[in-house]
Amino acid sequence: MKQPRHVSLTGITTTGTPHLGNYAGAIRPAIAASRRDDVDSFYFLADYHSLAKNLDPDTIARSTLEIAATWLAAGLDPARVTLYRQSDIPEILELAWILSGVTAKGLMNRSHAYKAVVADNEASDSRDPDKGISMALFGYPVLMTADILMFKATHVPVGRDQKQHLEMARDIAARFNHVYRETFVLPEPVIDEHTAVLAGLDGRKMSKSYGNTIPLFLSEKKFRKLIMKIKTNSLEPGEPKDPDGCTLFSIYRAFATPEQTAALRVRYAEGIGWGEMKQLLFEHLDAELAGPRAEYERLLANPARIEEILAEGAARARSISRPFLAEIRDAIGIRSLAGLAP
Ligand code: TRP
Repeated sequence: MKQPRHVSLTGITTTGTPHLGNYAGAIRPAIAASRRDDVDSFYFLADYHSLAKNLDPDTIARSTLEIAATWLAAGLDPARVTLYRQSDIPEILELAWILSGVTAKGLMNRSHAYKAVVADNEASDSRDPDKGISMALFGYPVLMTADILMFKATHVPVGRDQKQHLEMARDIAARFNHVYRETFVLPEPVIDEHTAVLAGLDGRKMSKSYGNTIPLFLSEKKFRKLIMKIKTNSLEPGEPKDPDGCTLFSIYRAFATPEQTAALRVRYAEGIGWGEMKQLLFEHLDAELAGPRAEYERLLANPARIEEILAEGAARARSISRPFLAEIRDAIGIRSLAGLAP
């Protein structure tokens, strides 16, 4: 018997420059998954989602280029997966509007992302709890649902913070199937509890919102300089050190085999000095990243080539989205009048 299709889909919002934490936590595992033969994979740049944050246009354009180049340089093979830019697939936006017709406003009211901004507003002395909240932010889960349902994704790898959005996608899909007819596949979130969470320069979780990130592709010199800046305690060389809770160790571990990690634990117990440890970490990371970094630079120098790759991905994606949207429109009664019985 034919196995049910496994369709994996994930989107990356184009609002920043990828850092080491993104790489270890999301990019590297996604690329490993994309090499599986039994899975149909879709990866896309969620550029319309960036409207939910009011960033300036140049930042968004630059981020789109950098994220596309990062995924390609890190080894995503556009011949094996469908890699595209959301804004190249107009059917997704059309579907988002259609889905908004079966999305209860009350469901959106319960969105954590929206409620967090309302709570901030209420905590400040602002008199408007909806201050700074655009419809793009409020309706973000509807667009995300359209991204997912358009390609009949069965599995959606996301961070834990996105779990609620997947529940909303299922609710909206089920509601549409109930109101109209069986049309959409209900997606499941794939949340990897074991993915590496890296600490950043100051020891807190590496995150753009803390301003403590180490960008993934920096020149070797700048990269080395940042590694040297990672905060440590003031133990001297020769004094035994605790690897758990050590930022340098947590980063090393995310890039090392279990054997290498065990060997480093021994060096900590023996009292490796922080200067030596930082040099060791730099060399270890640089050995893995130097090749992809060179490829990244080649790609950035040739944005027209990236555009071409995305255009090929969009053509493939639209060969699915165009006919599917025609079916969906028919289901809701948006039909050619010529076909109606007189
Ligand atoms: N909202 C996701 C994030 O911020 C990005 C995203 C947009 C996405 N559309 C998606 C992820 C569809 C998975 C599927 O991380």
